[in-house]
Amino acid sequence: MPIKILMVCLGNICRSPLAEGILASKLPKEKFFVDSAGTGHWHVGNPPDKRSILTAEKNGISISNQKGKLFKSSFFKEYDHIYVMDNSNYDDVISMAPNEEAKQKVMLILDELFPGENVDVPDPYHGIQSNFDQVFEMLEEACDTIATKMLKKYSEE
Ligand code: 4NP
Repeated sequence: MPIKILMVCLGNICRSPLAEGILASKLPKEKFFVDSAGTGHWHVGNPPDKRSILTAEKNGISISNQKGKLFKSSFFKEYDHIYVMDNSNYDDVISMAPNEEAKQKVMLILDELFPGENVDVPDPYHGIQSNFDQVFEMLEEACDTIATKMLKKYSEE
């Protein structure tokens, strides 16, 4: 069984698809499954925002085949780790957690870089292309740390 990691944002079209693509590119597919979802329903079934697709493409990562999906409470069982992009996503996801064990799976993604500082990945949806590039850089750095941590954590299994 692969280790399952979920990236969560609001729309599942800007930030979490990038996070999914970046982390997946850093982990072996046989051992890790990386996915993403949104807490809002508006873009279910849609591909990522064109600006996220472009930013990813410029960095050699293809995310155009992803499809938006809604975060469900059953995901707490399905996934081993759930990374959220901002504090609002954190509150939304935690409010759906069935128990303490489920809550423990949820982490603000930039806490991997700035532990305990509760820094948000800014929502670029109403911004311009360069905002997506900035988000990519933040997620690239965070995913580097996550990949190292996961490879170490699961190296004996
Ligand atoms: P995301 O950005 O959460 O990074 O995917 C958003 C995309 C769409 C909306 C909000 C945020 N929206 O309200 O439609």
